[in-house]
Amino acid sequence: MVKPPAYVCNACGAVHAKWSGRCESCGGWNSISEDAGISAGPAGKSLGARRGSRMALSDLSTPEAAPPRTSSGIAELDRVLGGGLVRASAILVGGDPGIGKSTLLLQAAASFARGGLRAIYVSGEEASAQVRMRANRLGLKDAPVLLGAETNLRDILTTLEAEKPDLAVIDSIQTIWADNVESAPGSVAQVRAAAHELTAFAKRTGISVVLVGHVTKEGQIAGPRVIEHMVDTVLYFEGERGHQFRILRAVKNRFGPADEIGVFEMTGAGLAEVTNPSALFLADRDKPAPGSVVFAGIEGTRPVLVELQALVAPTPQAQPRRSVVGWDGARLAMILAVLDARCGIPFSGMDVYLNVAGGLKISEPAADLAVAAALLSAREDVSLPSDTVVFGEISLSGSLRAVGQTENRLKEARKLGFSGIIAPVQSSFGSAAGPGIQTVPDLTSFVGKYFGAG
Ligand code: TYD
Ligand code: MG
Repeated sequence: MVKPPAYVCNACGAVHAKWSGRCESCGGWNSISEDAGISAGPAGKSLGARRGSRMALSDLSTPEAAPPRTSSGIAELDRVLGGGLVRASAILVGGDPGIGKSTLLLQAAASFARGGLRAIYVSGEEASAQVRMRANRLGLKDAPVLLGAETNLRDILTTLEAEKPDLAVIDSIQTIWADNVESAPGSVAQVRAAAHELTAFAKRTGISVVLVGHVTKEGQIAGPRVIEHMVDTVLYFEGERGHQFRILRAVKNRFGPADEIGVFEMTGAGLAEVTNPSALFLADRDKPAPGSVVFAGIEGTRPVLVELQALVAPTPQAQPRRSVVGWDGARLAMILAVLDARCGIPFSGMDVYLNVAGGLKISEPAADLAVAAALLSAREDVSLPSDTVVFGEISLSGSLRAVGQTENRLKEARKLGFSGIIAPVQSSFGSAAGPGIQTVPDLTSFVGKYFGAG
């Protein structure tokens, strides 16, 4: 029986029965192509009557030692990994091209190697000489990392098996080519097959494998999302290209907390750790300006203060602009609607721009009140005191909800010299309670108190 052709989205890996211009699963355009490696049709052959062997079963109380971990010597990386590199783990590091993945992993491999691990860095994108040049520039010339330039999966596996390193970096998974799969490198079938082989190889041999994956907007090559489910840990390296800050974010981690972030700064000599991100994100802050508000946020287990900037300008356009960098556009629309409906402050006829300074992306609803404050501050041309931080979640009714980790937020704010705190009434401040805390019950009283309206 001839299998019907399958169509697969190169961005998210969703399988479709027919081609279309837009992937219904992830919304990407032009990312669907025919895939030779898989079929959307009924499964070809059943397993038949031949019996397999019985698998070993154990109960939940079977003792299991904590996975042995090795510190990278880079604290920000260890934090994101959940305390260090776990033996035999498969880690995916995704990010936009040019964001600094190769730089980060070369530095990490060098740091592990200096700490005594045997590390191999396989580049499918650059020649060994290029990697060496980069290592030179990063001051890693003397680190005992072994380099290889190869894209053939079979050769890579054979080499790794013989060399028995502790850590292998594969840069990038989209360049790797398995000769038993009949599609081009970078296709979903190839990327999946290579990731599957490498992950199984890690489990079998005890070698920790790091896969680098480019995020692609165009869908010409398969994005890292198609292999996220196979690996133990998924890290994304984010940041604005024109900015020096880079954030390594754990979005999945079988060996530690997800949502943890590590903060780096791209310098002329590679990535430098940022141990106090709040200080860095607030470093360029000018005098108190309308539209600027400091939000006391939590990223993973760590408090981070960050400046939100809003600009509100009248426009003759019937459809005013709503532009957001670093936050959720839908959430912004909600806050604008609540301000309009509950406080009688409309933003129609006005362009609204919201920016999270420093290239950080925040997703906490706790930022709602700070966003509202920035919007009101920009609209009314009134600035909040510069030594004040804001947090709190806004509900559709216009009331304010308490948020988690209040104590941590406060401690971080005080540590950085912020004495004023604006928070929802129900917040429990625990040991951090003290002077300077101003609580507000709802958005209307917040508006009245700080912006003299509403
Ligand atoms: P790279 O690690 O090659 O990105 P990726 O592997 O994610 O595609 O980083 C490329 C960018 O980083 C490049 O634009 C130059 C910059 N860079 C520095 O600013 N300083 C450095 O020391 C290095 C090595 C790179
Ligand atoms: Mg690279």
